[in-house]
Amino acid sequence: MLPRPRTVGWGPFSVNIRVFNSEQEAAAACAGHIAQAVRARPSLVLGLPTGRTPLNVYRELVALHARGGLSLAHARTFNLDEFSGVSPEDGGSFRAYMDRHFFGKVDLAPGNIHFLDGMAPDVDAECARYDAALREAGGLDLLLLGIGANGHVAFNEPGDSLQAPCHRVRLSRETRLANAALFGDDPTRVPLEALTLGMASILQARRVVLLAFGASKAGAVAAMVKGPVTPRCPASFLQLHRDVDVWLDPEAARGLA
Ligand code: PGA
Repeated sequence: MLPRPRTVGWGPFSVNIRVFNSEQEAAAACAGHIAQAVRARPSLVLGLPTGRTPLNVYRELVALHARGGLSLAHARTFNLDEFSGVSPEDGGSFRAYMDRHFFGKVDLAPGNIHFLDGMAPDVDAECARYDAALREAGGLDLLLLGIGANGHVAFNEPGDSLQAPCHRVRLSRETRLANAALFGDDPTRVPLEALTLGMASILQARRVVLLAFGASKAGAVAAMVKGPVTPRCPASFLQLHRDVDVWLDPEAARGLA
């Protein structure tokens, strides 16, 4: 029997930190948490990330579904971001990632899956459409997040200021390097820009679970939890949220000791 995950509050406000024994254990707990929320409210509105971090969560949810333990037939999903100039059919797109790892393996209704269109000719109209669709759905009930090693959440990159609505963003060099695997390990093929949900949709989500694994995330996690609230670390704004869980493996928690 593994030791129970450690729960650590931080500061006068409650970012609820749990340090699991391993990434796998955190992912299984996260999938269980999502499944429970969907069972309690079948039409749950989920905010979903891509990247390496949620892969095991998707794997666990797919396995739960395959065992008959979870139906997503009425759930609604909004992905956080998409590369500009990349079509959904392109293997490097976040849409293709989601089809591969999740959408193609569960019973989500296609009409309940919401995605930014990286090919939209009018970017402002596309961003307004996405924010309106999310508003119409009632906002995010449960938002699953990763964190960039530079402290970004979705593609809200560090800078002098942050944007509230959905918007187009210029990706940092670091973020393009981190996404090279989707483009044949060639960072020069990673698009320069992307569309992302803004900080408003993230901070207005009713519940947030942020996952971070590995030593490369330790600095960003410490800045998010212990540092000042600053656009230099977009994730630090989560300190202002009422209901945030930060679930870590021991390596990502190293900076919190
Ligand atoms: P990763 O990305 O899961 O691939 O580390 C996380 C993020 O950039 O938000």
